[in-house]
Amino acid sequence: MKKAILSLIACAALTGCTAVKVSDFDSIQEYTLKNKNGMVVKITNYGAIITSIVVPDREGNMADVALGYDSVDSYINAIDRPYFGAVVGRYGNRIAKGKFTLDGVEYELATNNGENHLHGGNIGFDKVVWTAEVVENGVKLSYLAKDGEEGYPGNLKLSVTYTLTDDNEIVMHYEATTDKATVVNVTNHTYFNLAGEGSGSINGHLLQINASKTTPVDAGLIPTGELADVTGTPFDFRQPTEIGKGVDADNQQIKYGPGYDHNWVLDRKGDGMEVAAVLYEPTSGRVLEVITEEPSIQFYGGNFLDGRLVGKSGKAYGYRSGLCLETQHSPDSINHEGEEGWPSVILRPGEKYDTTTIYKFSVK
Ligand code: BGC
Repeated sequence: MKKAILSLIACAALTGCTAVKVSDFDSIQEYTLKNKNGMVVKITNYGAIITSIVVPDREGNMADVALGYDSVDSYINAIDRPYFGAVVGRYGNRIAKGKFTLDGVEYELATNNGENHLHGGNIGFDKVVWTAEVVENGVKLSYLAKDGEEGYPGNLKLSVTYTLTDDNEIVMHYEATTDKATVVNVTNHTYFNLAGEGSGSINGHLLQINASKTTPVDAGLIPTGELADVTGTPFDFRQPTEIGKGVDADNQQIKYGPGYDHNWVLDRKGDGMEVAAVLYEPTSGRVLEVITEEPSIQFYGGNFLDGRLVGKSGKAYGYRSGLCLETQHSPDSINHEGEEGWPSVILRPGEKYDTTTIYKFSVK
């Protein structure tokens, strides 16, 4: 329902959190979280999108490091929808030809990326309105994905709780249950530029990924099934490495990207929260640590940004002007179920999907 009135809605009685109706659509709001350091994070219940992350640089100057728009309507009406800041799913990343078999039944999903399925299909979790509930230091967003939606089996009750801590951490806690066996693999798709959104290429950022293996892909960016050692390749980010160093390397996998758009299998010690990746931008001194329980991470270097989308500060988002660090199970895992190195993505009735990822900001 359309309504052009901008209304202010109080965020319960909590400090540090305000909610504003930000769209012509009645049920869409934006929540603002603030911590004692002045860090500000904005989240909308449309697509569970993180619309803004304002953090200090090493001199204390604040900048918004998340690509996106200044109005939720712009997310809805954009000419291209590269999933800025959103939660993607039911299966984030790709499923080959949009097909998989589960308990002997073949399921066919929407194919929205050539012949493949990407980020949950035509209307994935990034394009639906979630129900919002204010919680301490944050907001809990819930969505019921219906049995058959985008081809997936099972009514999936999903929530993501975003909280902001005084240690400059955005904590993202995902929980889900189902009434029929299904697949789940959700992640957040924020595009970062630690020099500030709209400030050009991310290729000068230094990235560390704690992984010694990737899942090489074919031309459609579908994993071949191998696990490849990163040693001696442009995929070795085990030490902090400038992204620009390898992004145009003469390497078949890089050509497929084109650039970085790959999945790394993390070198994990156990099942708990571990640092998966560390991103550092030398001019601002800003650091982002990605801490997760997930087994893998997609580093997508913004290869498909082409300058057509203009962001919140009026600057066009050019080629490689933002990057995503998407914690996840590996792409197309459901078609490698049971294979070594491919943890299961199946959720059954009675089980609980429960996973946390943290974006932690600091300076050096
Ligand atoms: C994928 C890219 C895709 C992009 C869409 C990323 O997560 O890895 O291949 O083009 O999302 O914006």
